[in-house]
Amino acid sequence: MDIFWEILIILHANVIVCISAQPNPPWWAYKEVVQGSFVPVPSFWGLVNSAWNLCSVGKRQSPVNIETSHMIFDPFLQPIKLNTGGRKVGGTMYNTGRHVSLRLDKEHLVNISGGPMTYSHRLEEIRLHFGSEDGQGSEHLLNGQAFSGEVQLIHYNHELYTNYTEAAKSPNGLVIVSIFMKIAETANSFLNRMLNRDTITRITYKNDAYLLTNLNIEEIYPETISFITYEGSMTIPPCFETATWILMNKPVYLTRMQMHSLRLLSQNQPSQIFLSMSDNVRPVQPLNNRCIRTNINFSMQGKDCPNNRAQKLQYRVNEWLLK
Ligand SMILES: *[C@@H]1O[C@H](CO)[C@@H](O)[C@H](O)[C@H]1NC(C)=O
Ligand SMILES: *[C@@H]1O[C@H](CO)[C@@H](O)[C@H](O)[C@H]1NC(C)=O
Ligand SMILES: *[C@@H]1O[C@H](CO)[C@@H](O)[C@H](O)[C@H]1NC(C)=O
Repeated sequence: MDIFWEILIILHANVIVCISAQPNPPWWAYKEVVQGSFVPVPSFWGLVNSAWNLCSVGKRQSPVNIETSHMIFDPFLQPIKLNTGGRKVGGTMYNTGRHVSLRLDKEHLVNISGGPMTYSHRLEEIRLHFGSEDGQGSEHLLNGQAFSGEVQLIHYNHELYTNYTEAAKSPNGLVIVSIFMKIAETANSFLNRMLNRDTITRITYKNDAYLLTNLNIEEIYPETISFITYEGSMTIPPCFETATWILMNKPVYLTRMQMHSLRLLSQNQPSQIFLSMSDNVRPVQPLNNRCIRTNINFSMQGKDCPNNRAQKLQYRVNEWLLK
């Protein structure tokens, strides 16, 4: 205990020195970066900036491990409604140094409603998390198991708030749709657009950007109406607990080649050493007493006795993992 606090004080002292030398305040990392200075990794996010203290003390944090045996069937969950106005959209794909991030043009509005939502939420950003090896790289886990990556579609409540920044710190502010990524022979058509060789190599370095047109947001969604939902937080500082998460009950696929291209993205600018962006993942946080709801009706599986049902229920929910 004492040693722990001593270390913290030393780190704090160090941090203050570094902050004064750092022109950009949003200053945090997923991994220890050796550049002669201390960069706070996830376990320190909440300690280095008082505005981020929810990252440490919050009790409704994300991501979490979803234990499928703890899910509750909620018959009142509506299907999710995606509203693109039937239009294709354009956007800019960025290397932010931490994520691959796709932002739609301002005139292209896409929103979702239904599911656990009581408001309409507008798509703000599509963000990719991925691993340096297969079977790691997703932020959420399913029965303790990670996937090779996770697509997060970040939406804000545009009925109550004027922009993402306002919504992110306010009640019912965000809805994040999460879709696991798995490696396969053929890829999801939306991921094909983002991750084909000509495109992804344009954003090799931090701050690189590349314009994409004619995107169909519908294509990123896997073919399922099943989802899992819980109340959590942003998975990056300031870790505000304003996000409703919706995890789609099927993954999307990318090819081995596309995964490889992702791992060749650098966190740094071209003048600096190459540092792969992969493993841009916050570790799972305690669920505490939060409820995980789903629209999967387990009892559709059969009229077995309760014991059997419990076993089947696991199988049923895990089934899509094998696809
Ligand atoms: C959602 O998006 C559609 C298509 O862009 C738009 O027509 C509609 O007005 C939006 N819904 C709300 C509640 O703003
Ligand atoms: C977001 O909206 C708030 C309040 O309307 C405004 O003060 C702020 O400048 C806006 N931020 C951005 C990034 O547009
Ligand atoms: C769930 O499935 C059972 C068995 O098929 C059915 O009786 C019940 O009505 C379903 N519930 C809902 C809300 O769909």
